[in-house]
Amino acid sequence: MWPENVGICAIEVVFPSQYVDQTELEQFDGASAGKYTIGLGQSKMGFCSDREDVASLCLTVVSRLIERNQIRPQDIGRLEVGTETIIDKSKSVKSVLMKLFADSGNTDIEGIDTTNACYGGTAALFNSVNWIESSSWDGRYALAVCADIAVYAKGAARPTGGAGAIAMLVGPNASLIFERGLRATHMEHVYDFYKPDLSSEYPTVDGKLSIQCYLSALDTCYQLYRKKFEKKYPDAAQVGLDNLDALIFHTPFCKLVQKSMARVVFNDFLLCKSTKRALKYPGLERFNDATLANTYFDRDVEKAFMIQFNDTFERKTRKSLLLANQVGNMYTPSVYSGLVSLLISNTPEELLGKRIGVFSYGSGLAASMYSILVTKDKQVFQQFVSKLDYVLPMLNTRKKIAPEVFSELMEVREKNNHAASYTPSGSVSALFPGTYYLKHVDDKYRRTYERTSVITNGVH
Ligand code: ACO
Repeated sequence: MWPENVGICAIEVVFPSQYVDQTELEQFDGASAGKYTIGLGQSKMGFCSDREDVASLCLTVVSRLIERNQIRPQDIGRLEVGTETIIDKSKSVKSVLMKLFADSGNTDIEGIDTTNACYGGTAALFNSVNWIESSSWDGRYALAVCADIAVYAKGAARPTGGAGAIAMLVGPNASLIFERGLRATHMEHVYDFYKPDLSSEYPTVDGKLSIQCYLSALDTCYQLYRKKFEKKYPDAAQVGLDNLDALIFHTPFCKLVQKSMARVVFNDFLLCKSTKRALKYPGLERFNDATLANTYFDRDVEKAFMIQFNDTFERKTRKSLLLANQVGNMYTPSVYSGLVSLLISNTPEELLGKRIGVFSYGSGLAASMYSILVTKDKQVFQQFVSKLDYVLPMLNTRKKIAPEVFSELMEVREKNNHAASYTPSGSVSALFPGTYYLKHVDDKYRRTYERTSVITNGVH
């Protein structure tokens, strides 16, 4: 017998305590006013000084999840990390996280790291769900962790950075249930965004190509998801997007998600029987002969569907962009920050029993669309969502840093990336309470971490 209702039982997010304002960054970069804020749809960008690395972000998010939800470390049987922030070519971040389990004596925890650009978190989550649904499962929880520090060299891509971490406790009888048989995946070999220079944190990126790859992966995953949905629910009264109450996306920048929602409607339009099209999509007949392949940068198609279906975007997606707009692209956690944003921007009653579509994309490329069903158990769900009460206050207590200082801190990271021995210079007092930080890297590249003090009986 399979365990029932496997999915996310608890979720925790962390983001940097410092941010740069995108309007100020436009001025500092000499970009035209509105390019980052209106053109890309970004308000603030979180960033880490050299005091934080991917392992410290993961230590912070996992310890906070365990404390807030009072999980016994012995009850974790699998721990997976998805990241593309590589600080060691052999040693996994997961192995560093085992520090958190040392006192409990629990070393029987499967799982290591998974890497493919922004997709690693989804792979970690799928692996966790798969383990619980497999014959290897021993009855304990799995933890899927994703974390990244998204930094770009000076230039057009820099305002699309960000940083953060998310940990998800996976088990049966979950609040957010994975819908069986409804995963659609598209993978192929492309050089749109990659990190071939192992001495640098910065990617090599073909921005336009990465957007085209993102949109074409969305087309393929969505159409495949639709097919699988029709197979699973042959008697469904509705088709396509009407079956999803909310749709969340990997969010490199918010404007792309607004365009992506229009793209999903455009897919529905192309798949709609010609006899029904005029009724469902009035005024769009001029696009009857359009194709997916020829419209990635077609402003007419993009604009027409964005304007006509703006209310669909408002209803199903806009609320999921809160953290992406305020923190930026977190890479692997990005799409799950969309999930957290959705959870904290609706009342539990509004989400109860609803179906949430998820589109995850990682350059290179790997992409999946799948769906999550929110439990119908009001009490369980209220309890689950109440654990996210800290998110908005934490977002609002971040410190704004001038672009000049941000730029200097980026240079410090750039210069000292992989330096040994090395003691970071970034401020410890600027970090949130309960944050793990990098104390020192010794001459053998061994990293030591400490934690800022935790307030209010371990829950903050
Ligand atoms: N006011 C309002 N809007 C403006 C202004 C202005 N003053 N100036 C420009 N814009 C608009 C542009 O019209 C454009 O919008 P549109 O595409 O809807 O027309 C938008 O702002 C961006 O301007 P571009 O000139 O297209 O920007 P540029 O090419 O310089 O950089 C890019 C954008 C390619 C996204 C870059 O930031 C980048 O490479 N980022 C990293 C790659 C990335 O995030 N890819 C996404 C998928 S892969 C991943 O997740 C990493």
